[in-house]
Amino acid sequence: MKRIIILDGAGRNDGRTSALVRTFTEGAKQAGNEVIRFELQEMDIRGCRNCQGCARQEKGIPLPCVQRDDMDEIYRAFREAQVIVLASPVYWWTVSGPLKTAVDRLYALIRNAGKDAYPKESVLLMTAGSTDYSQAVAWYSRFEPWLGWKDLGMILGANQAEAARELGAGIR
Ligand SMILES: Cc1cc2nc3c(=O)[nH]c(=O)nc-3n(C[C@H](O)[C@H](O)[C@H](O)COP(=O)(O)O)c2cc1C
Repeated sequence: MKRIIILDGAGRNDGRTSALVRTFTEGAKQAGNEVIRFELQEMDIRGCRNCQGCARQEKGIPLPCVQRDDMDEIYRAFREAQVIVLASPVYWWTVSGPLKTAVDRLYALIRNAGKDAYPKESVLLMTAGSTDYSQAVAWYSRFEPWLGWKDLGMILGANQAEAARELGAGIR
């Protein structure tokens, strides 16, 4: 059993990205995993200010970011999770603003405790109007190994719902 958190950056919660998230979640839960989904569009999460306040806090504290908003829920869940799923439609060739903003804010935990402090397995789920995911994949493929995260798979395309289910079901 693994704890999985989904950072869902879709602009609407009944769209094509949500359909991928839904089948992934069904598969993951059937395999006995715990899944928590954060609908970022509905949350109050401000951008990282690069104030470096996180670097000045005591190392390893639960909430090193000096901003207090809904990101606190994600910080708590992120610390406990083994798997992080990044879900987003392609917006202007890359991930949506809500997803990018939430990932930027994870900087605080990593800056505070070090990049090896929170090893994760990770997944990318995306849909697009076209088939061009290249910029989003380049982004994910750079920062995820830099953090020492292990990619479990990228599901790219609204027609990949069953592949998303299988990926979820393969997590144990
Ligand atoms: C603001 C905005 C920007 C978009 N930019 C792109 C893009 O650059 N490339 C692309 O293929 N599709 C683009 N799309 C289309 C969406 O990626 C596509 O419709 C996606 O499946 C929507 O996901 P949803 O159903 O979860 O909302 C854009 C849509 C919006 C609303």
